[in-house]
Amino acid sequence: MKSNILTINIPEKSSYSYPIIIGQDMDYSGYIKEYTKAGKILVVTNRTIFSLYEKKLKSENMHYVVLEDGEEYKNFDSLKKIIDAAIEYRLERRDCMVAFGGGVIGDITGFAAATYLRGIDFIQIPTTLLAQVDSSVGGKVAINHEKGKNLIGAFYQPRAVLADINLLKTLDIRQLKTGLAEVLKYAFIEKSCGAALNYRFYDFLDAYDSNIFELDYDILEKLILICCTLKASVVEKDETEKGLRAILNFGHTFAHAIENLTNYTKYTHGEAVAAGMLMASKLALKLNLIDRNYFVNINSLINKYELVPEMPEFDKDKFFDAMRLDKKADADKIRFILPDSDFSVKMVTDIDETLVKECIEF
Ligand code: NAD
Ligand code: GLY
Repeated sequence: MKSNILTINIPEKSSYSYPIIIGQDMDYSGYIKEYTKAGKILVVTNRTIFSLYEKKLKSENMHYVVLEDGEEYKNFDSLKKIIDAAIEYRLERRDCMVAFGGGVIGDITGFAAATYLRGIDFIQIPTTLLAQVDSSVGGKVAINHEKGKNLIGAFYQPRAVLADINLLKTLDIRQLKTGLAEVLKYAFIEKSCGAALNYRFYDFLDAYDSNIFELDYDILEKLILICCTLKASVVEKDETEKGLRAILNFGHTFAHAIENLTNYTKYTHGEAVAAGMLMASKLALKLNLIDRNYFVNINSLINKYELVPEMPEFDKDKFFDAMRLDKKADADKIRFILPDSDFSVKMVTDIDETLVKECIEF
């Protein structure tokens, strides 16, 4: 079966590079052998995914950790379960962990791999659209703390990313929409990513409507390829977020506050990001960074796909405090990534609190 392969190079890590392989019905064991020297493999997944794909994962040298399903399990307890299993199965330095799941499994497995024996190989097999277009690429790995999301983590790159599009067939519409929110993010930051595409990503997305959720293989392959190309271009220039990489957080300062105030359980990450992008575009309009035309374009693309569910009226003081706690706050100043012209964004700090609070509404 034909696969597309992108290579990501990380100059900050002596040009460490790895492939992002996009295809269908992949031979996972074959790829794992090709990209690691592992004798033992510890597959980390969750109950939902294990029950759907247990057969696909069976191989002699594989052991399994099956976690509970949910963002609330991206925590110390689950990390301990993974490390306990690695110790029980006596994984050594040359062995490998495999993250088989969405962003939650990818982030926590990557963090376990980064810390177990001071770092062993890991491979990402992303099973959600969000994970295939974004979270499995670039090496941000983390767990949450009750005081904030992703507060404990590392930059730790996988050996390979295996994006098997067929795995997306079992996702429900809500999960497809949450992935599409991150896809749209790439359309709004495209120019700032510094990768040359043959066409404007926004126009490509604008040409579809809900038929985008029909899981046409060619459309999905294009979405994943474009998002990974844009993300790779950013990560190659700034792996550890000294500057440019922050653009990938468009909408996320608001989104993390939404997730934090609702205990990471009420809304998906993509729903929060979609709402966050609407709020950020409103803030950009108020600051005269963008004109009304472009503001309308951002809003209509997000609303066309109905990415934001009903949300309550948040207490604005609590919301603002939650944003201050976010990792993206710098010396108590909240950093926002805001659109500054069509399809480009920039970082803005020191924004008047009242103005920000005016944007915390739908
Ligand atoms: P998720 O991992 O919770 O998966 C969403 C749901 O889909 C879960 O219930 C899961 O069990 C289910 N699922 C997964 N694959 C399935 C499949 N093939 N069929 C049926 N059900 C399936 O959520 P997500 O949206 O994939 O990821 C969100 C997480 O990713 C958040 O923790 C977020 O912080 C993180 N994230 C990380 C980065 C990064 O760069 N590291 C980027 C974006 C988001
Ligand atoms: N998803 C944000 C990043 O990878 O930097």
